[in-house]
Amino acid sequence: MIFFTRRERFSAAHRMFRQDWTDEKNSEVFGKCSNPNWHGHNYVLWVTVKGEISENHGFVMNISILKKIIQERIIEKIDHRNINIDVAFMKGKIATTENLTIAIWNELKPEIEKAGASLHCIKIEETENNFIEYYG
Ligand code: NI
Repeated sequence: MIFFTRRERFSAAHRMFRQDWTDEKNSEVFGKCSNPNWHGHNYVLWVTVKGEISENHGFVMNISILKKIIQERIIEKIDHRNINIDVAFMKGKIATTENLTIAIWNELKPEIEKAGASLHCIKIEETENNFIEYYG
């Protein structure tokens, strides 16, 4: 078993809040990320795939195929967008990095499997001090 990780970056706006809570309660729970007028982060996304090395081409997964899948399924839909409003795969979810990590896992897993590899980990850094990892 061998692992390959591709890094991508995107910038996006969000607000963490619950509609059924007051602005005060949201601010108490979610802090600055609950600012009603939005704010943004420069996110870093790591996608790790695993599998056996193909005797055909010597890769675990063709890098250009992985790059294309991440671009089309994630980056084009989220980069310079508002996660709460514009991103279909985050609809109805609180825009935390935890929820985003799981949503990206669900978007990418079937595509990576179609390409003959397995998804091992999605890691997202929201700030340089915080990151989330999901292994399914
Ligand atoms: Ni935030």
